[in-house]
Amino acid sequence: EAPLRIGLIGFGCVGQGFYDVVQQRPELGLVITRIAVKSPDKPRTLPADRFSFQADDLAADPALDVLVEVIDDAAEAFRLVSAALRRGRRVATANKAMLARHLPELVQLQADFGGTLLYEAAVCGSIPIIRTLDQYFSHEPLRAVSGIFNGSSNYVLTRMAEDGSDYGSALAEAQAQGFAETDPALDMGAFDPRSKAVILAAHAYGVFLNPNEVLNLGIEGIAAADIARAAALGQKIKVVAGLYRLPNGRVTAVVTPQLLGPESPLYAVEREFNGVVLEAEFAGPQFLHGRGAGGHPTGSAVLADVLALRRGLRYGYAKRATAPAVQLTEDLVLDA
Ligand code: HSE
Repeated sequence: EAPLRIGLIGFGCVGQGFYDVVQQRPELGLVITRIAVKSPDKPRTLPADRFSFQADDLAADPALDVLVEVIDDAAEAFRLVSAALRRGRRVATANKAMLARHLPELVQLQADFGGTLLYEAAVCGSIPIIRTLDQYFSHEPLRAVSGIFNGSSNYVLTRMAEDGSDYGSALAEAQAQGFAETDPALDMGAFDPRSKAVILAAHAYGVFLNPNEVLNLGIEGIAAADIARAAALGQKIKVVAGLYRLPNGRVTAVVTPQLLGPESPLYAVEREFNGVVLEAEFAGPQFLHGRGAGGHPTGSAVLADVLALRRGLRYGYAKRATAPAVQLTEDLVLDA
Protein backbone atom coordinates (compact mmCIF):
# COMPACT_ATOMS: atom_id res chain seq x y z
CA GLU A 1 0.00 0.00 0.00
CA ALA A 2 1.35 3.45 -0.94
CA PRO A 3 2.00 5.75 2.01
CA LEU A 4 -0.75 8.23 2.81
CA ARG A 5 0.50 11.77 2.13
CA ILE A 6 -0.63 14.29 4.72
CA GLY A 7 -0.66 18.10 4.55
CA LEU A 8 -0.54 19.58 8.05
CA ILE A 9 -1.87 23.11 8.55
CA GLY A 10 -0.82 24.48 11.95
CA PHE A 11 2.06 23.48 14.19
CA GLY A 12 0.99 24.56 17.66
CA CYS A 13 0.35 22.26 20.60
CA VAL A 14 -1.98 19.92 18.65
CA GLY A 15 0.00 20.07 15.38
CA GLN A 16 3.24 19.15 17.14
CA GLY A 17 1.49 16.46 19.17
CA PHE A 18 0.12 14.94 15.97
CA TYR A 19 3.51 15.17 14.25
CA ASP A 20 5.13 13.42 17.21
CA VAL A 21 2.71 10.52 17.41
CA VAL A 22 2.97 9.97 13.64
CA GLN A 23 6.79 9.84 13.91
CA GLN A 24 6.46 7.21 16.63
CA ARG A 25 4.30 4.91 14.44
CA PRO A 26 6.30 4.56 11.17
CA GLU A 27 4.62 1.21 10.45
CA LEU A 28 1.29 2.99 9.82
CA GLY A 29 2.50 4.18 6.40
CA LEU A 30 1.81 7.89 6.92
CA VAL A 31 4.01 10.70 5.61
CA ILE A 32 3.61 14.32 6.65
CA THR A 33 4.63 15.73 3.29
CA ARG A 34 3.96 19.43 3.84
CA ILE A 35 3.46 21.66 6.90
CA ALA A 36 2.00 25.17 6.65
CA VAL A 37 2.23 27.72 9.47
CA LYS A 38 1.29 31.37 9.80
CA SER A 39 4.33 33.04 11.26
CA PRO A 40 7.78 32.65 9.65
CA ASP A 41 9.48 34.03 12.77
CA LYS A 42 8.54 31.68 15.61
CA PRO A 43 11.24 29.30 16.83
CA ARG A 44 10.18 25.74 15.99
CA THR A 45 11.25 22.20 16.79
CA LEU A 46 11.86 21.27 13.12
CA PRO A 47 14.22 22.81 10.52
CA ALA A 48 12.86 25.95 8.83
CA ASP A 49 12.77 24.27 5.39
CA ARG A 50 10.03 21.91 6.64
CA PHE A 51 7.54 24.81 6.73
CA SER A 52 5.66 26.80 4.16
CA PHE A 53 3.52 29.86 4.80
CA GLN A 54 0.90 29.23 2.14
CA ALA A 55 -1.86 27.12 3.68
CA ASP A 56 -3.97 27.68 0.52
CA ASP A 57 -1.44 25.74 -1.53
CA LEU A 58 -1.91 22.70 0.68
CA ALA A 59 -5.70 22.75 0.31
CA ALA A 60 -5.17 22.74 -3.47
CA ASP A 61 -2.22 20.31 -3.72
CA PRO A 62 -3.40 17.16 -5.56
CA ALA A 63 -0.32 15.29 -4.31
CA LEU A 64 -1.75 15.28 -0.77
CA ASP A 65 -4.22 12.55 0.22
CA VAL A 66 -5.42 14.03 3.51
CA LEU A 67 -5.38 17.50 5.07
CA VAL A 68 -5.06 18.03 8.81
CA GLU A 69 -6.20 21.50 9.92
CA VAL A 70 -5.17 22.40 13.47
CA ILE A 71 -4.87 26.19 13.50
CA ASP A 72 -6.30 28.49 16.12
CA ASP A 73 -8.22 31.03 14.06
CA ALA A 74 -11.78 29.76 13.46
CA ALA A 75 -12.57 32.08 10.52
CA GLU A 76 -9.36 31.20 8.68
CA ALA A 77 -9.89 27.50 9.46
CA PHE A 78 -13.38 27.66 7.94
CA ARG A 79 -12.02 29.35 4.82
CA LEU A 80 -9.36 26.64 4.38
CA VAL A 81 -11.52 23.64 5.29
CA SER A 82 -14.47 24.73 3.16
CA ALA A 83 -12.13 25.34 0.19
CA ALA A 84 -10.72 21.83 0.63
CA LEU A 85 -14.22 20.28 0.90
CA ARG A 86 -15.25 22.11 -2.27
CA ARG A 87 -12.46 20.16 -3.96
CA GLY A 88 -13.86 16.94 -2.52
CA ARG A 89 -10.89 16.45 -0.21
CA ARG A 90 -10.53 14.38 2.97
CA VAL A 91 -9.93 16.61 5.98
CA ALA A 92 -9.42 16.16 9.72
CA THR A 93 -9.83 19.20 11.98
CA ALA A 94 -9.65 19.90 15.72
CA ASN A 95 -11.22 23.37 15.48
CA LYS A 96 -14.26 23.22 17.75
CA ALA A 97 -15.17 26.92 17.47
CA MET A 98 -15.26 26.66 13.67
CA LEU A 99 -17.32 23.47 13.77
CA ALA A 100 -19.85 24.86 16.26
CA ARG A 101 -20.39 27.93 14.08
CA HIS A 102 -20.45 26.24 10.67
CA LEU A 103 -21.53 22.62 11.07
CA PRO A 104 -24.64 22.81 8.82
CA GLU A 105 -22.59 24.32 5.96
CA LEU A 106 -19.77 21.82 6.46
CA VAL A 107 -22.23 18.90 6.33
CA GLN A 108 -23.77 20.34 3.14
CA LEU A 109 -20.35 20.81 1.49
CA GLN A 110 -19.56 17.13 2.10
CA ALA A 111 -22.88 16.11 0.56
CA ASP A 112 -22.42 18.43 -2.46
CA PHE A 113 -18.78 17.73 -3.30
CA GLY A 114 -18.14 14.22 -1.95
CA GLY A 115 -15.33 15.15 0.47
CA THR A 116 -15.13 14.03 4.09
CA LEU A 117 -14.56 15.92 7.33
CA LEU A 118 -13.77 14.14 10.61
CA TYR A 119 -13.14 15.90 13.94
CA GLU A 120 -12.86 13.54 16.87
CA ALA A 121 -10.06 15.69 18.34
CA ALA A 122 -12.35 18.73 18.56
CA VAL A 123 -14.40 17.35 21.48
CA CYS A 124 -12.92 16.05 24.74
CA GLY A 125 -9.40 15.47 23.37
CA SER A 126 -8.60 11.77 23.53
CA ILE A 127 -12.12 10.52 24.39
CA PRO A 128 -13.72 8.92 21.30
CA ILE A 129 -17.09 10.49 22.00
CA ILE A 130 -18.11 11.52 18.49
CA ARG A 131 -17.55 8.08 17.05
CA THR A 132 -19.21 6.52 20.08
CA LEU A 133 -22.33 8.60 19.47
CA ASP A 134 -22.21 8.58 15.70
CA GLN A 135 -21.32 4.95 15.06
CA TYR A 136 -21.97 2.86 18.12
CA PHE A 137 -25.00 4.43 19.77
CA SER A 138 -26.80 5.51 16.60
CA HIS A 139 -29.59 3.03 17.46
CA GLU A 140 -30.07 4.44 20.98
CA PRO A 141 -32.46 7.16 22.00
CA LEU A 142 -30.40 9.26 24.40
CA ARG A 143 -32.07 11.00 27.31
CA ALA A 144 -29.01 13.10 28.09
CA VAL A 145 -25.36 13.61 27.22
CA SER A 146 -23.50 15.55 29.88
CA GLY A 147 -19.99 16.00 31.11
CA ILE A 148 -16.85 17.99 31.67
CA PHE A 149 -15.76 19.18 28.24
CA ASN A 150 -13.01 21.65 29.14
CA GLY A 151 -9.67 20.58 30.54
CA SER A 152 -8.30 24.02 31.43
CA SER A 153 -11.15 25.19 33.64
CA ASN A 154 -11.30 21.76 35.28
CA TYR A 155 -7.55 21.98 35.87
CA VAL A 156 -7.95 25.38 37.54
CA LEU A 157 -10.83 24.18 39.75
CA THR A 158 -8.87 21.05 40.72
CA ARG A 159 -5.74 23.00 41.64
CA MET A 160 -7.71 25.54 43.66
CA ALA A 161 -9.40 22.70 45.58
CA GLU A 162 -6.22 20.65 46.08
CA ASP A 163 -4.01 23.11 47.85
CA GLY A 164 -5.74 26.45 47.72
CA SER A 165 -3.79 27.61 44.62
CA ASP A 166 -5.06 30.96 43.50
CA TYR A 167 -6.96 31.29 40.26
CA GLY A 168 -4.18 33.16 38.43
CA SER A 169 -1.37 30.73 39.16
CA ALA A 170 -3.58 27.69 38.45
CA LEU A 171 -4.48 29.22 35.08
CA ALA A 172 -0.80 29.94 34.36
CA GLU A 173 -0.02 26.25 35.02
CA ALA A 174 -2.78 25.13 32.62
CA GLN A 175 -1.38 27.50 29.99
CA ALA A 176 2.21 26.33 30.51
CA GLN A 177 1.12 22.74 29.85
CA GLY A 178 -0.58 23.69 26.58
CA PHE A 179 -4.14 22.97 27.75
CA ALA A 180 -5.61 26.46 27.39
CA GLU A 181 -6.78 28.28 24.28
CA THR A 182 -4.69 31.22 23.05
CA ASP A 183 -7.44 33.37 24.59
CA PRO A 184 -8.03 31.61 27.93
CA ALA A 185 -11.31 33.51 28.38
CA LEU A 186 -12.76 30.91 25.96
CA ASP A 187 -11.94 28.19 28.52
CA MET A 188 -12.71 30.10 31.72
CA GLY A 189 -15.91 31.63 30.33
CA ALA A 190 -17.15 28.20 29.14
CA PHE A 191 -17.29 29.24 25.47
CA ASP A 192 -15.03 26.32 24.53
CA PRO A 193 -17.18 23.62 26.19
CA ARG A 194 -20.25 25.31 24.68
CA SER A 195 -18.78 24.73 21.20
CA LYS A 196 -18.22 21.08 22.10
CA ALA A 197 -21.81 20.71 23.34
CA VAL A 198 -23.08 22.13 20.04
CA ILE A 199 -20.99 19.58 18.09
CA LEU A 200 -22.19 16.67 20.22
CA ALA A 201 -25.84 17.74 19.76
CA ALA A 202 -25.44 17.07 16.03
CA HIS A 203 -24.21 13.52 16.69
CA ALA A 204 -26.39 12.66 19.68
CA TYR A 205 -29.64 14.15 18.39
CA GLY A 206 -29.20 15.28 14.77
CA VAL A 207 -29.77 18.84 15.97
CA PHE A 208 -27.76 21.86 14.87
CA LEU A 209 -27.84 24.31 17.75
CA ASN A 210 -26.80 27.92 17.39
CA PRO A 211 -23.93 28.42 19.90
CA ASN A 212 -25.32 31.85 20.79
CA GLU A 213 -28.53 30.24 22.00
CA VAL A 214 -26.75 27.97 24.48
CA LEU A 215 -26.35 29.44 27.97
CA ASN A 216 -22.73 29.28 29.16
CA LEU A 217 -21.47 30.39 32.55
CA GLY A 218 -17.78 30.13 33.41
CA ILE A 219 -15.64 30.07 36.52
CA GLU A 220 -14.26 33.62 36.61
CA GLY A 221 -16.57 34.49 39.50
CA ILE A 222 -15.71 31.44 41.60
CA ALA A 223 -13.61 32.25 44.65
CA ALA A 224 -11.43 30.01 46.83
CA ALA A 225 -14.07 30.45 49.57
CA ASP A 226 -16.78 28.94 47.29
CA ILE A 227 -14.60 25.89 46.66
CA ALA A 228 -13.88 25.52 50.39
CA ARG A 229 -17.60 25.75 51.19
CA ALA A 230 -18.35 23.04 48.61
CA ALA A 231 -15.59 20.85 50.08
CA ALA A 232 -17.05 21.25 53.58
CA LEU A 233 -20.27 19.75 52.17
CA GLY A 234 -18.31 16.89 50.57
CA GLN A 235 -18.82 18.38 47.10
CA LYS A 236 -16.81 19.84 44.23
CA ILE A 237 -17.57 22.65 41.81
CA LYS A 238 -17.28 21.49 38.20
CA VAL A 239 -18.30 23.08 34.89
CA VAL A 240 -20.88 20.68 33.49
CA ALA A 241 -22.11 20.81 29.90
CA GLY A 242 -25.40 19.07 29.31
CA LEU A 243 -27.62 18.15 26.38
CA TYR A 244 -31.09 17.09 27.46
CA ARG A 245 -34.09 15.72 25.59
CA LEU A 246 -37.12 17.46 27.06
CA PRO A 247 -40.48 15.74 27.56
CA ASN A 248 -41.79 17.57 24.48
CA GLY A 249 -39.10 15.84 22.37
CA ARG A 250 -36.99 18.95 21.89
CA VAL A 251 -33.30 19.19 22.78
CA THR A 252 -31.68 21.84 24.91
CA ALA A 253 -28.11 22.53 25.99
CA VAL A 254 -26.56 24.45 28.87
CA VAL A 255 -23.02 24.82 30.29
CA THR A 256 -22.69 26.01 33.90
CA PRO A 257 -20.72 25.40 37.09
CA GLN A 258 -22.49 22.86 39.30
CA LEU A 259 -21.99 21.29 42.72
CA LEU A 260 -21.27 17.58 42.36
CA GLY A 261 -21.11 14.93 45.06
CA PRO A 262 -19.21 11.61 44.96
CA GLU A 263 -22.31 9.86 43.55
CA SER A 264 -21.64 11.58 40.21
CA PRO A 265 -18.99 9.92 38.01
CA LEU A 266 -17.89 13.46 37.07
CA TYR A 267 -16.81 14.09 40.68
CA ALA A 268 -13.67 12.03 40.05
CA VAL A 269 -12.74 13.86 36.83
CA GLU A 270 -9.76 15.99 37.82
CA ARG A 271 -7.16 18.27 36.22
CA GLU A 272 -7.17 18.30 32.41
CA PHE A 273 -9.25 15.13 32.21
CA ASN A 274 -12.72 15.21 30.69
CA GLY A 275 -15.67 12.91 31.30
CA VAL A 276 -18.89 12.19 29.42
CA VAL A 277 -22.00 10.54 30.85
CA LEU A 278 -24.53 9.12 28.38
CA GLU A 279 -28.04 8.23 29.50
CA ALA A 280 -29.09 5.72 26.89
CA GLU A 281 -32.61 4.34 26.89
CA PHE A 282 -31.73 0.67 26.32
CA ALA A 283 -28.06 0.43 27.31
CA GLY A 284 -28.47 2.53 30.44
CA PRO A 285 -25.78 4.85 31.75
CA GLN A 286 -22.31 4.98 30.23
CA PHE A 287 -19.27 6.92 31.39
CA LEU A 288 -16.22 7.83 29.29
CA HIS A 289 -13.15 9.33 30.95
CA GLY A 290 -9.84 10.49 29.48
CA ARG A 291 -7.45 13.34 28.83
CA GLY A 292 -9.34 16.28 27.35
CA ALA A 293 -6.40 18.46 26.39
CA GLY A 294 -2.68 18.28 25.64
CA GLY A 295 -0.58 17.66 22.54
CA HIS A 296 -0.22 13.88 22.54
CA PRO A 297 -3.78 12.95 23.65
CA THR A 298 -5.27 15.35 21.10
CA GLY A 299 -2.68 14.36 18.48
CA SER A 300 -3.69 10.74 19.03
CA ALA A 301 -7.31 11.61 18.25
CA VAL A 302 -6.25 13.43 15.05
CA LEU A 303 -4.22 10.37 14.04
CA ALA A 304 -7.27 8.15 14.63
CA ASP A 305 -9.21 10.43 12.24
CA VAL A 306 -6.51 10.26 9.58
CA LEU A 307 -6.58 6.45 9.71
CA ALA A 308 -10.38 6.52 9.59
CA LEU A 309 -10.25 8.80 6.54
CA ARG A 310 -7.96 6.25 4.86
CA ARG A 311 -10.58 3.56 5.55
CA GLY A 312 -13.33 5.77 4.12
CA LEU A 313 -15.26 6.53 7.32
CA ARG A 314 -17.89 9.28 7.17
CA TYR A 315 -20.16 10.52 9.92
CA GLY A 316 -23.81 9.53 9.62
CA TYR A 317 -25.57 12.63 10.95
CA ALA A 318 -28.84 11.81 9.26
CA LYS A 319 -29.24 8.46 11.03
CA ARG A 320 -30.53 10.28 14.11
CA ALA A 321 -34.22 10.88 14.51
CA THR A 322 -34.20 14.64 14.24
CA ALA A 323 -35.61 16.46 17.23
CA PRO A 324 -36.15 20.19 16.90
CA ALA A 325 -33.85 22.40 18.94
CA VAL A 326 -35.32 24.42 21.73
CA GLN A 327 -35.83 28.08 21.00
CA LEU A 328 -34.90 29.67 24.30
CA THR A 329 -37.52 32.35 23.89
CA GLU A 330 -40.44 30.02 23.10
CA ASP A 331 -40.22 26.62 24.78
CA LEU A 332 -38.41 27.35 27.96
CA VAL A 333 -40.46 30.38 28.81
CA LEU A 334 -43.78 28.78 27.86
CA ASP A 335 -42.95 25.45 29.52
CA ALA A 336 -41.85 27.11 32.74
N1 HSE B 1 -8.57 24.48 25.71
C1 HSE B 1 -9.20 23.21 25.57
C2 HSE B 1 -9.42 22.63 26.95
C3 HSE B 1 -8.34 22.31 24.74
O1 HSE B 1 -8.86 23.16 27.92
O2 HSE B 1 -10.18 21.67 27.08
C4 HSE B 1 -9.00 21.03 24.31
O3 HSE B 1 -10.08 21.28 23.44
